Amino acid sequence: MSEMATVHVPLGARAYDVRIGSGLLARAGTEIAPLLGRRRVFVVTEDRVAALHLEALRAGLGAEGITMEALILPPGESTKGWPEFTRTVEWLLEQRVERKDMVVAFGGGVIGDLAGFAAAVLRRGVRFVQIPTSLLAQVDSSVGGKTGINSVHGKNLIGAFHQPSLVLADISVLGTLSERDFLAGYGEVQKYGLLGDDAFFEWLEANGPALAAGDDALRLEAVRRSVQMKADIVERDETEQGDRALLNLGHTFCHALEAATGYSDRLLHGEGVAIGCALAFELSYRLGLVSQEEPSRVRAHLAAMGMKKDLSDIPGDLPDADALLDLMGQDKKVVDGQLRFILARRIGEAFVTADVPRKDVHAVLTEALRPRG
Ligand code: GLY
Repeated sequence: MSEMATVHVPLGARAYDVRIGSGLLARAGTEIAPLLGRRRVFVVTEDRVAALHLEALRAGLGAEGITMEALILPPGESTKGWPEFTRTVEWLLEQRVERKDMVVAFGGGVIGDLAGFAAAVLRRGVRFVQIPTSLLAQVDSSVGGKTGINSVHGKNLIGAFHQPSLVLADISVLGTLSERDFLAGYGEVQKYGLLGDDAFFEWLEANGPALAAGDDALRLEAVRRSVQMKADIVERDETEQGDRALLNLGHTFCHALEAATGYSDRLLHGEGVAIGCALAFELSYRLGLVSQEEPSRVRAHLAAMGMKKDLSDIPGDLPDADALLDLMGQDKKVVDGQLRFILARRIGEAFVTADVPRKDVHAVLTEALRPRG
């Protein structure tokens, strides 16, 4: 077992640890056993993750005499709706999951959100463990207790806050991700530097390319610092009454772009977050909050990582600025009909505001849609 880090999420009766390290699947039994009554867990996963890692998890649990039953769902965002959710809840009931049992969400963000929500409503709440297998899930969605599914009216509109009892982020499983999926997850990593820690952003500028190339020690450090920042914010504002919205830096733009591209392969969520962060800094510059160097530095880092950074990097046509603004208006972060934006005072200091004139957002989008020569 190589180096391991622990981030504690201090939420009183709902407090838990996030364990981060290589080889955690093999240790899953040791990590989970203290939380169990009977030595049996119920794993919700998906095809691709199951093919790559389910036997390793079974062996890790089995080493401590823990048996598992697994439900293997189809991969992809379309799983995150009522049909597969109903199937999951009914399967857990068929398995006679009891109040004191443990559900295990084993996969990326889709599985974590869906299985966590199933655990939240089953018998009015059973405990669950997150074992995130994508970078995005390790640094964002597995921590903080947001669970849910999509509605025809929008993404993540049906859900509950339900904190996991433990998160096991095995860095070695990141090695099986495609480069594109890894870099999409990195969109959320760089977001943490931008929103609250300039030293972390500088560290990423220096270490990002080596980390993406496969250095596990750097990956562990990036996941640890991201999770620590998320834990700090969630501790201050568990249910997003205020500060937690900072985690949505880049997301108002991102959600409009995801909707405009039909939530398709044209744009992955983390790619949209990265472009959205660059646009949020452009908007901050337009509003006189940051110097011109700041958005350029954000985009330069994305370019150095080989990531999408401009609207022109999204394949296919995009709608015009008015249509994108309308899509933003459907975002669930609209409060009293007003769009909320996360803007920046500098790299490493973001804030939430509803005070952004539509004309300035329009101008930033119009400029961003202009073909670059
Ligand atoms: N992904 C944003 C949050 O957990 O609040």
